[in-house]
Amino acid sequence: MNLNMTPTHIPVLLEETVRALSVQPGGRYIDCTVGGGGHAAAILQRSSPGGQLLGIDADPRAVAVARVRLAAYHSSFRLVNDNFANLQNICLKYDFFPVHGILFDLGLSSLQLGDDERGFSFQHDAPLDMRVNPDLSVSAADIVNTYSEAELADLLRTYGEEILSRRIARRIIGERPVQSTLQLAQIVERAAGGRRGKIHPATRTFQALRIAVNHELDNLRGALKQAVKLLGFEGRLVVISYHSLEDRIVKQFLQREAKGCVCPPETPVCICGHTPSLRLINRKVITPSAEEIERNPRSRSAKLRAAERVINSTDEYHGAAEGLCFVTNGGSWKRPLLLSKLRRTYSLS
Ligand SMILES: C[S@@+](CC[C@H](N)C(=O)[O-])C[C@H]1O[C@@H](n2cnc3c(N)ncnc32)[C@H](O)[C@@H]1O
Repeated sequence: MNLNMTPTHIPVLLEETVRALSVQPGGRYIDCTVGGGGHAAAILQRSSPGGQLLGIDADPRAVAVARVRLAAYHSSFRLVNDNFANLQNICLKYDFFPVHGILFDLGLSSLQLGDDERGFSFQHDAPLDMRVNPDLSVSAADIVNTYSEAELADLLRTYGEEILSRRIARRIIGERPVQSTLQLAQIVERAAGGRRGKIHPATRTFQALRIAVNHELDNLRGALKQAVKLLGFEGRLVVISYHSLEDRIVKQFLQREAKGCVCPPETPVCICGHTPSLRLINRKVITPSAEEIERNPRSRSAKLRAAERVINSTDEYHGAAEGLCFVTNGGSWKRPLLLSKLRRTYSLS
């Protein structure tokens, strides 16, 4: 792959993301889905001088592309080819916590969707693969060709919210082996009785398979929990999602973390002891403008949610704040605004 010839991915909701992360000079940020490096470049630019970024991606090709894109920022970033499900371990390994902001820009990049060999899209004929990380053991073809009819229907209903799941599953079973993206798209189209409307009938089937192959929803649930623990006081968590299953997980997670007691309503006295760890930044979800959708149609389903870390005790303060001191480019110690504010809050010397 010639990285200089690779088509670029246009970052979605770029300005809104940088604002929601409240990027500040000298800040320390994690981009859990570095992709083509578009958001990461903006974060590095706005956090200069002294900003640091840890970029993660499960796709080794994305990491290679991001490395080229971010080369101008030299030693201000580190890229790691790993799954964000391992977020906490990655940060421990590189001693990169607490941080001022964490970004998840979920889904796939245009580089992946446009790659004729990956099988993510039915716009090109390709082997039915769909693994973001090529080391994963199960591909979409494995699922389509080995699951029972009931298992396939269940998968299409759960991860694709496909109302024709049983009909499509039956048709797939009848036409196995299914090896390519176009073959699968045509089978689904026939099962659905042809095309109606703008959305291709195979869209939900492809979404379901991709989610299953890459364990997308479980990875997201696990990573959100870890992210909160890595944020310093007033650190920001920003998530951009592209379909309702992801967005529901993010919305429910943020709402729960922003609450005090989470006991069932019928419980007379609180027994959960839950305290808020986040404060919601935007109660209403942020979506792209008509102008952005016109310029970048892939942004049309994007939903941005953001929250800020709140600290409940001095113990938590120590964990979340001390590490926010770091050395600037000039070599002197910088005390971020956040830390001095914290010290006032807790009257520490
Ligand atoms: C929409 S793209 C990100 C684009 C990026 N924000 C940019 O501006 O170029 C999503 C990226 O997340 C990566 N990804 C998806 N699931 C992941 C996971 N569980 N762990 C790490 N990376 C993941 C994909 O490989 C893809 O490169």
